[in-house]
Amino acid sequence: MRPDISLPRIPVLDSEMAYREAGRTDGPVALFLHGNPTSSYIWRNIIPHVADVAHCVAPDLIGFGQSGKPDIAYRFEDHVRYLDGFIAKMGIGSAYLVAQDWGSGLAFHLAARRPDFARGLAFMEFIRPIPTWDEFLQDSAEREIFRKFRTPGEGEALILRDNIFVEGVLPGATARQLNEEEMAVYRAPFSTEASRRPTWRFPNELPIAGEPADVYATMEKAHEALALSHYPKLLFTGDPGALIPPAVAEDYARRLHDCRLVKLGSGLHYLQEDHPEIIGETVAEFIAEIEARKSRRMS
Ligand code: BEZ
Repeated sequence: MRPDISLPRIPVLDSEMAYREAGRTDGPVALFLHGNPTSSYIWRNIIPHVADVAHCVAPDLIGFGQSGKPDIAYRFEDHVRYLDGFIAKMGIGSAYLVAQDWGSGLAFHLAARRPDFARGLAFMEFIRPIPTWDEFLQDSAEREIFRKFRTPGEGEALILRDNIFVEGVLPGATARQLNEEEMAVYRAPFSTEASRRPTWRFPNELPIAGEPADVYATMEKAHEALALSHYPKLLFTGDPGALIPPAVAEDYARRLHDCRLVKLGSGLHYLQEDHPEIIGETVAEFIAEIEARKSRRMS
């Protein structure tokens, strides 16, 4: 079985963060941000398409992939601190943000705090404040599983003991069957109960029905900033999707400034595993067009 390549790591705060890198270092940066329970590995078949037009940088979030696992709570605010540290250490001053799941929450929050940082945003299956539990996921059985993830005792048993986010949620929310080699890479960071804590925390941070209050408020603010922003956007949607059904994606694309909707066809939550070529090619075109427009304006 071929494992993933060994990634470079840099010191960040009290730990280390790993990252995947490709492309021309004289180009604009494309910063790829993954979600739960994946890693930069989820971008492996997308990055080669984008590498012709951008300097691709894909960190493993702290606690995920080949990054360190410091003894922290792995709350959203912790990911913000470590990602900010990573961006500073890498000397990235602006970037095209390419994000899914919690990577999108981090991208929205980053763009809201640093409006000049975002050259553009490509996003999918994203995090948004969800006013009621009935609006969270379309399938009531799946909704109940996420309620259990947030129930003290039950959530820990399912995610820490049984490793459900890796063994159940990831393959269950990918339309094709992930092969053994791919599952081995996704499993590798989570071999012990303690190592799985980051995958338990994220579903407990989802902003649903006002809870957790701090994350809910942060995401409300980030979405207000997103709604007012004018940087170019690309929104990918799968059918039926998971967090973002097609109708919600269409509504967002209509309301946001300069947002193009790309319908990928059948897909659930981990759209990068099902549609890497089209995502990669479309992100590359998106970046090339914006950069060409910019250089025409400057000449
Ligand atoms: C999540 O990580 O938020 C998620 C994963 C799979 C399906 C729906 C949501």
